[in-house]
Amino acid sequence: MLGDLIKRPRRLRRNASVRELVRDTHVQLSHLIQPYFLKDGKGSEPITGFSGVCRLGVDLVSRQVESDLEKGLRNFLFFAHSTKKDSQGTEAWNPEGLIPTTLSTIKKRFGDSVLLFTDVCLCPFTSHGHCGVVKGEEIVNDASVEQLAKMAVCHAQAGADFVAPSDMMDGRVRAIRHALDRQGYQQVGVLAYTAKYASSYYGPFREALDSSPQFSDRSSYQMDFRNARAALQELSLDLEEGADIVMVKPALPYLDIIAQFREHSAVPVAAYCVSAEYQMVKLLVREGLAEERKLVLENLSAITRAGAQIIVTYHASEIARGGWL
Ligand code: PBG
Ligand code: ZN
Repeated sequence: MLGDLIKRPRRLRRNASVRELVRDTHVQLSHLIQPYFLKDGKGSEPITGFSGVCRLGVDLVSRQVESDLEKGLRNFLFFAHSTKKDSQGTEAWNPEGLIPTTLSTIKKRFGDSVLLFTDVCLCPFTSHGHCGVVKGEEIVNDASVEQLAKMAVCHAQAGADFVAPSDMMDGRVRAIRHALDRQGYQQVGVLAYTAKYASSYYGPFREALDSSPQFSDRSSYQMDFRNARAALQELSLDLEEGADIVMVKPALPYLDIIAQFREHSAVPVAAYCVSAEYQMVKLLVREGLAEERKLVLENLSAITRAGAQIIVTYHASEIARGGWL
């Protein structure tokens, strides 16, 4: 008999007030990081297949950061679109390069009211598009790590709060930590792309930076998506090597990995909701198949529920501007 039904979960879903009372996941602006793509010169350039995302000159980035800040968004991750590419990726640690000059402009203007993160990787700067230096068809680990450490120091000098190595070379967190410390940047943190999978979800991003590998692919260094336990090994290495924050990337197809990171580490866990995850949302919305705000909040809630406390998302600025939270 239904009259005997004592337990009725619907009691806690009865109206919006009760639902607010019992909700256990909160997505907050203070935990979101907005990526920006920098370009030489002024103005903006649209990116094919990356709806609403542009490469920005330093004038516009600065203005964008200002308006984000007004809306309460203060965390930014910078990438450079470079036309200066060579086999070593030497532009990556040019102190007059796009990232360092932009960092110092923004730091000077906004100080500690902003947190500036920079991607540390060679692929936007190498002519072959790989994340390290190559010898024949091999991506050479230790030589790459040396370059990455130089790049990290260059970003720290210009005002980065956190450097974020995304290359997946072995030992890079330790090398970067040591290099930063030797130069007196003990306070600059390392946000490690700890479990970065060789993924098909990076398409629009590679379009943005013109950073696709020119031969082979990235599967000799990025992780194999068939493996979960390997992420735990990467986690313990990055923690030993001194990572301050550990990140999983992409986010939505890897919620299991995020949950494991949450369980097995005491440092904050971040997730990177990558370019094609963003573009999938845009395409659904364009087709009239979903409401953008609701879909984005569902996705970010799932990532938060899985255990990520920090989320890198191309939607951050739109969320802030629209007051979606
Ligand atoms: C560079 C890098 C990539 C992303 C962040 N840093 C792409 C890649 O490995 O080619 C992907 C971000 C995205 O798709 O949004 N190593
Ligand atoms: Zn790379």
